[in-house]
Amino acid sequence: MKLEGQTIVITGASSGIGAEAARKVARLGGTVCLLARRADELEDVRAGIEATGGSAYAYPVDLSDTVAADAVAAQLLAEHPWIDALVNNAGRSIRRPIKESLDRVHDYERTMAINYFGAVRLTLALVPRFLQQGHGHVVISSSMSTQVPIPLFSAYLASKAALESFTRSLTAELGHDGITSTTVYFPMVRTEMSGATPIYQAMPMLSADKAANWLVKAIVDKPTRVTSLPGAMGELSMAALPGVVTKVSQPLFRRMDKSLAKRVRD
Ligand SMILES: NC(=O)c1ccc[n+]([C@@H]2O[C@H](COP(=O)([O-])OP(=O)(O)OC[C@H]3O[C@@H](n4cnc5c(N)ncnc54)[C@H](OP(=O)(O)O)[C@@H]3O)[C@@H](O)[C@H]2O)c1
Repeated sequence: MKLEGQTIVITGASSGIGAEAARKVARLGGTVCLLARRADELEDVRAGIEATGGSAYAYPVDLSDTVAADAVAAQLLAEHPWIDALVNNAGRSIRRPIKESLDRVHDYERTMAINYFGAVRLTLALVPRFLQQGHGHVVISSSMSTQVPIPLFSAYLASKAALESFTRSLTAELGHDGITSTTVYFPMVRTEMSGATPIYQAMPMLSADKAANWLVKAIVDKPTRVTSLPGAMGELSMAALPGVVTKVSQPLFRRMDKSLAKRVRD
C-alpha cells in the first residue's frame, strides 16, 4: 500500500491509460480524484474502484472550458484537505499532414486548449496547496514522439512539448519548495486515442494496463522522467546529430506508414 493516505488527482480517467492508472493507484491505497468529460464512464471507474475497497471521487468536467476547469479546481481544493499528486493525463490527438492543415489553425488551438492550457490551469490552481503542504508531485502524460522528429502530428506534439517545458520550469523554480515533476514519454499505447488511426491496428503497441504502470511508477518513485530505451536513444541522437537524424528518419516514417497500410489492407 505504497500510496496509503495520499490523494492523487488524475485527469483523463474515464478511459485508456488514465482509467487503468486510477485503478492501480487505488489498489496501492491512494484516494483518487477522477476527472474527464464523460460522466457515465467516470462513474463506472469510480464505482469499480469503490467495489474493490478503494476510495475514488468522480468530477465530470471539460478541462478545456476555462470556467468549468476553475470551478472543478476550487471543488477539489475544498473537498480534499491535501493533494499529493496531480497527473495531467487528459488529452486529445490529431493526426493530420501540415499541407492539409493550412486553413486549420483551430486544430492547433484545440489541442493546446486541453493538452496544454487545461493542464497548466489545473496545475496553477493546485500550486498554492502544494506550497502550503511543502510537497506536491506533477506528472504529465507526454509522448515518445517529442523525443524524435515525427511527421503528421504537428498540433498534438507542439502542445505536448509546450507542457513538457512548463513542467520543467515548474520544478526548476519550485523544486526547493517541494514541488517535483515527472514527464512520462509513452510509446504507442492501444487505447481509444490510437484506435482512431486505422493503420495503427497493425502496429505493435503497449497495452493500457502496462502503460498505466508507467504512471504509477511516476507517482510512487517520482523520477524526473519515465521513458522507453528507444525514446532515450532518440533524444541522445537528436542532441548529438539533429540534422542527420531528422534527414535519415524521414523516408523511414514514410515507408513505415506504407507498410502498416498494406498490412491492414491484407
Ligand atoms: N495512446 C497512445 O498511443 C499515447 C501515446 C503517447 C501519449 N499518450 C497520452 O496519454 C494520455 C491518455 O491517452 P489515452 O491513450 O489513454 O487515450 P484516451 O483513452 O482517449 O484518453 C484520453 C482521456 O482524456 C480525456 N479528455 C479528453 N479531452 C478532455 C477534456 N476536454 N476535458 C477533460 N478530459 C478530457 C478523455 O475523457 P473524456 O472523453 O471523457 O473527456 C479520456 O479520459 C493522453 O494525454 C495522450 O496524449 C497516448
